[in-house]
Amino acid sequence: ARGASIQHYLRDDDLTPEQQAEVLALAAELKKDPFAKQTLAGPRGVGVIFEKNSTRTRFSFEMGIAQLGGHAVVVDGRSTQLGREETLQDTGRVLSRYVDAVVWRTFGQKRLEQMAAGATVPIVNALSDEFHPCQVLADLQTLAERKGALKGLKLTYLGDGANNMAHSLLLGGVTAGIDVTVAAPAGFAPLGYVVEAATARAQQTGATITLTDDPVAAVAGADALVTDTWTSMGQENDGLDRVGPFRPFQINADLLSKAAPDAVVLHCLPAHRGEEITDEVLDGPQSAVWDEAENRLHAQKALLVWLLEQRGADEGRP
Ligand code: CP
Ligand code: NVA
Repeated sequence: ARGASIQHYLRDDDLTPEQQAEVLALAAELKKDPFAKQTLAGPRGVGVIFEKNSTRTRFSFEMGIAQLGGHAVVVDGRSTQLGREETLQDTGRVLSRYVDAVVWRTFGQKRLEQMAAGATVPIVNALSDEFHPCQVLADLQTLAERKGALKGLKLTYLGDGANNMAHSLLLGGVTAGIDVTVAAPAGFAPLGYVVEAATARAQQTGATITLTDDPVAAVAGADALVTDTWTSMGQENDGLDRVGPFRPFQINADLLSKAAPDAVVLHCLPAHRGEEITDEVLDGPQSAVWDEAENRLHAQKALLVWLLEQRGADEGRP
């Protein structure tokens, strides 16, 4: 039975709406009582591998795993055989003999799929070029704290519509029943296959998706404004103008004043102050970014517990 039913978390839609709600409820519980779950006692191990830089993801996973009673093996992927000739499938197969889950920040989404194909433990996407689903769990937890029910909220993302955050907010947002608008300059719209998957998911939850290149229309009545860097890791030398066309999409006081009066502002961080967001907004009363960063810890602990409890149930483990 092992292998057949491993639940991975490679994209936001790997959790059904019900499953996502379970993880978010557990995240809220763990925020109140951080040591309530000792799922990794033993200690059981979790591999946490980075092929790109990280501050929040690294600290929150390592501390979260410790709080669950486990041990995190945190490594720079470039120092492992991942950087050499071993296949990702073989790597997944071997790591599964040592640890109970693998958390991986890498480049192409395909790499995650390949490791998952060989793994017999859950693989968690800690950011890929295409998706950042752990971040969106924290974003949803933050929105739930500020707004109560997620279903029916209107969230507007402004900036690079084709990056990991835009894609994950689309997929994860509509999974939660949120109406998601992505406002991006021409040429930076979300990729078609993501829009298709999000549309299918939105049909299940009753949510809507709006794509536009008009930032002012996009924010009207929004309960949440979200942005992210205009230049994601790995895009520094892609030859595209990632400043000029993006300027009208900056979250500043003027644009924020056009959203709902009590709109909250989210940013996964790191922020490029003065580019995608102004100091005034980031440090202002409507910003929830510091709680959002904290919630990475709680949301990811909940995700790990949930994934391992699924697996335990499948295998008849305690
Ligand atoms: N938001 C986020 O993932 O931050 P890090 O790159 O610092 O992990
Ligand atoms: N879109 C950004 C997110 C960083 C957490 C990047 O990929 O660099």
